[in-house]
Amino acid sequence: MGKLVKICKRNEISTGSNKLVNIDGKMIAVWNVNNEFYAVNAVCPHRGGPLEQGSLNQNVVSCPWHGWQFDVETGTSPVFPQAKIEIFKVKIEGEEIFVEV
Ligand code: FES
Repeated sequence: MGKLVKICKRNEISTGSNKLVNIDGKMIAVWNVNNEFYAVNAVCPHRGGPLEQGSLNQNVVSCPWHGWQFDVETGTSPVFPQAKIEIFKVKIEGEEIFVEV
């Protein structure tokens, strides 16, 4: 098991948005999808676009640069099966959100 890093309180990330955090130099976006929280690497594997600035549709984020799409729950792309982003385990304790890295 990795280390648990406290991110923020649940009510600090509204539905459909995310919080970007830098954990040990890794940019991680923690998304709220209908009050379920998912943490993913925020750097698009295509050309390094900022996925945290992308728009979320259900649980799929579209990169703002060229539109690659990723499911923030699974890290997979519904369009290009070979494209993936790293996902991280999220733990909720009371009102606090933690990410395991
Ligand atoms: S950098 Fe994300 S789609 Fe190109």
